[in-house]
Amino acid sequence: MIGSDIGKARRLLKRGEVVAIPTETVYGLAANAFDADAVLRIFEIKQRPSFDPLIVHIGRMEQLRDVAANIPAQAQALIDRFWPGPLTLVLQKQRRVPDVVTSGLDTVGVRMPAHPMALELLRSLDFPLAAPSANPFGYVSPSNAQHVEDQLGALVPYILDGGACDVGVESTIIGFDPEPVLYRAGGVPLEDIEAAIGPLGVPPSSQGEDPGMRSPGMLASHYAPRIPVIVGDVQALLHHHAGKRIGIISFMQDHRADTNAVLSPGGDAHEAARNLFAALRRLDTSGVQVILAEVFPEHGLGRAINDRLRRAAAR
Ligand code: TXA
Ligand code: MG
Repeated sequence: MIGSDIGKARRLLKRGEVVAIPTETVYGLAANAFDADAVLRIFEIKQRPSFDPLIVHIGRMEQLRDVAANIPAQAQALIDRFWPGPLTLVLQKQRRVPDVVTSGLDTVGVRMPAHPMALELLRSLDFPLAAPSANPFGYVSPSNAQHVEDQLGALVPYILDGGACDVGVESTIIGFDPEPVLYRAGGVPLEDIEAAIGPLGVPPSSQGEDPGMRSPGMLASHYAPRIPVIVGDVQALLHHHAGKRIGIISFMQDHRADTNAVLSPGGDAHEAARNLFAALRRLDTSGVQVILAEVFPEHGLGRAINDRLRRAAAR
């Protein structure tokens, strides 16, 4: 059931139930982070493997010490600059956080979301909310309440509707190894992180290792529609796939295929990110046989868009 009753969401969460909630990035599937049974239910609903840890969402700065310990100075600088906002920090965990939340790791991912309804809900609760994105494991993340309803509506007692997500891609994830390292490109551009705390450690990917090695759950194949996705030079790919029903995801240019999703005609990467997941979902059910996607400019939010498209394309 979809609705906008924060009190109802609060009552269900206090009873140990799972509720889908809006955030500024994507919708989350939330439960009391201190209640291991409630959190287990999230894994069941998503069919998520137990090795993939959840992000803990807080609504007040004081709550950070309830879930994390020994906050590095650079983490604090990022918190001061970007919270509430689309930035998750992987920090040393407090014993109080159940192992099921962190997949047994001694670290925990934490963020304070910027969505007003999420913040109001979190601030009305005396526990933080563990929440992964509210999609079946491996599928495209939901950027509005209807996306959640379409796939998980029968399994979730309530979907709190906070409208379409403003950012549209998941949070940026930074870990401390001990130097700060990018685990996942996301809603806060890498350039903004580096402007705040200086250059990050060499990303494992540039050493030939998938960044997911440091961040379980960051699998090569993820965010994937059922229809095959191919990323590259769309004009060349169009020739190669002539004769098929084709869907295209592009930044600004309309390539005039059977189904087109031009993410931002004016060339705004924020707008493109906001439209990305709805476009992937629409193309996935449009009857096309293959989805071709452009490579976006690899800076700002373009980095997160390219990361999601590459993982959507991986099989
Ligand atoms: O924007 C977002 O981050 C959304 C909204 C709902 O907040 N959440 C989200 O959660 O994208 P999810 O579960 O789809 O992705 C969480 C990822 C995990 O797959 C893992 O890669 C990383 O966060 N993560 C969580 N805890 C971690 C830890 N202790 N160490 C390393 N990586 C961690
Ligand atoms: Mg996810």
